[in-house]
Order: sequence, then C-alpha cells, then structure tokens
Amino acid sequence: MRATARAQPNIALIKYWGKRDPGRNLPAVGSISITLDELFTEMQVDLDAGEQRDRLLVNGLEDRQMLPRVSRCLDSVGGPGRPAAVVRSTCNFPIAAGLASSAAAFAALVVAADAALAGSRDTAQLASLAGQASGSAARSLYGGFVELTNRDDDISVQRLLAGDGWPLKVVVAITTPSHKAVASGEAMEISRKTSPFFGRWVDQQAADLDEAREAIGARDFARLGAVAEHNCLKMHSVMWASRPPMIYWNSATLACMQVVRDLQSAGVAVFFTIDAGPQLKAVCLPNDEARVREALAATDGVSNVMVSGLGAGARRVNAA
Ligand code: DP6
Repeated sequence: MRATARAQPNIALIKYWGKRDPGRNLPAVGSISITLDELFTEMQVDLDAGEQRDRLLVNGLEDRQMLPRVSRCLDSVGGPGRPAAVVRSTCNFPIAAGLASSAAAFAALVVAADAALAGSRDTAQLASLAGQASGSAARSLYGGFVELTNRDDDISVQRLLAGDGWPLKVVVAITTPSHKAVASGEAMEISRKTSPFFGRWVDQQAADLDEAREAIGARDFARLGAVAEHNCLKMHSVMWASRPPMIYWNSATLACMQVVRDLQSAGVAVFFTIDAGPQLKAVCLPNDEARVREALAATDGVSNVMVSGLGAGARRVNAA
C-alpha cells in the first residue's frame, strides 16, 4: 500500500497550449518534448497511513493548494473508494516557475499510486491518466524524445527516439525563482477564449509537428532548432494577444534570447525555448554545452543555470 516513483520534467519543443475538452483535460494540439535527467521529482504514495483524508507534503511542507488536483488524480487511478493517502513529494528544482514541475509530479504520482494499489496498468494507460491531471505530465511517462498525439477521444503518447540516440543538452537559465503569475491551465483557457491567433495556432500545429519529427529522425539540429523557436514564439504570440495578456518574460529572459542569438551567429549549435514562465531553456549539442552555460550564467538577471541531459521516463524506485 506504499510506493515511490521518480519522474523527470520534460521540455516541449513543439508546445501544448489550449484544451479541446477542458473537462477531461484533452489538449487542442499534439506536442513533442524532451525528457530531462538531472532534475527530478519523487512521489511517495502511502495508502496505509490511517488518515481520514488525503494529505500532501511538498519538500516536507503541507500543501493545501495542490491537494485537490492530487486527490482527483489519485481517484482516477484508485477509484473513489480508495483509502485516504499521504503523498510526500520531493523535488530538486524550483516548483511552478516554468520548469514543468507539475509534469514530473503527476507522472510520478500515477506510477506511485498504481504501484501502491498493486495495479498493473501499462505505460500508455498511465500516460493517459497523467494527462488528465496535467497535459504535459503524459509526456514524462517516457524518456528521450516524446510525441503526444490527439486521438478521437483520448491522447496517445510514444517515444520517438531514446535520449542516447541523440544526446542533446539543455541549459536552463533561471531568471527568477518566484512562482508564476497565471497557472498555465488557466492561462491557456483565456487564450482559447480570447486570443485572435488561437485558431491559427491550432491549424498550424500539424505542420510544426511533422517538421520537428522529421528533424529528430534525421538528427538535423538546425532544422529542429528553427521549428522549435518558431513554435515557441508563436505560442507566446497567442499569449500576448490574449485578454488579459499573458506575458511571462522579464528583461532577463529577453537578454538570454539575445545571448542565444549571438551564440548562433558565432556558429554555436544552440536554440532556445520558453514555457509559461520567465526561464529560458537553451538546447545545444554536447560539445557546445560549456560555452552556452558560461554565456547564460554571465547574463544580467540570471541567478542560476542548471544543465541537464536527456533522461528516462517515470518509474518506480525504492524509497530512500
Ligand atoms: C507552456 O501541462 O501545465 O509548458 O494540462 O493545464 O496542467 P495543464 O497544463 P500544463 O501546460 C504546459 C504548457 C507549456 C507547454 C508544454 O509543456 O507543452
């Protein structure tokens, strides 16, 4: 009745933004991501703690804000008659700052909950359950390069390529450790309802997915970088044109973009992507990692840089 699972966040190169069915949390568009390895969340689910109602402890502190989402996710795995759970989460990177902490959390949660209940769901079923809790979490069930595809009534998720098949590096420039202003789930609903660009965003996604999938298949870094930056800036254009507008960047985010542009001009194989937060993620080839890391660390407003390779999907681990 107790199990622990570990999952790593993933970074979307072709983004998920918008829901076609908010009730079941089905995304409006497919997406392609890379799963990281150095950053992780561990979730322990204890269904035998004798509690009357669910509790959530994040890095040792009681968290009542996230608890309803966690309880709903546990219901989806264990059914409404399940015992109350104590969920202990530990995370080695800043939460809710645009680093997909919820993706890693819900991916680990479904794996741990299924194991605690002696369930036998396969990865595809667990990905679908994780996706109901948080769309991007479905992708962290798999390692390496991952594609989420919309099906009629559900999603399907598959690994396109293992991480060691093309061992890219990701340098995350932390520009502020503070929590983001508008949570992505809420923000994407505002975009769907108000952004004049939302329909075009959805219409063009298939072409971007095709382009990125082919670039990954061919290990064509320049082609992948071009479509990933385009898709990222298009998503942010949708956000900027929403009412109210959602602007997640700060001046350091822009300074980091300029640094990436300068590195590109100097022949460095690097591209950027930015999610619903002010951190910039620079994706590069392994040989260029040190140069990218040093350049971003020296940028005004960057408080910290983290470097990661590509990692594995969510899995059960032995409790510490
Ligand atoms: C900008 O997966 O956090 O990071 O399904 O509402 O939980 P919910 O949204 P979430 O959105 C992620 C948005 C993004 C892009 C991406 O990861 O694809």
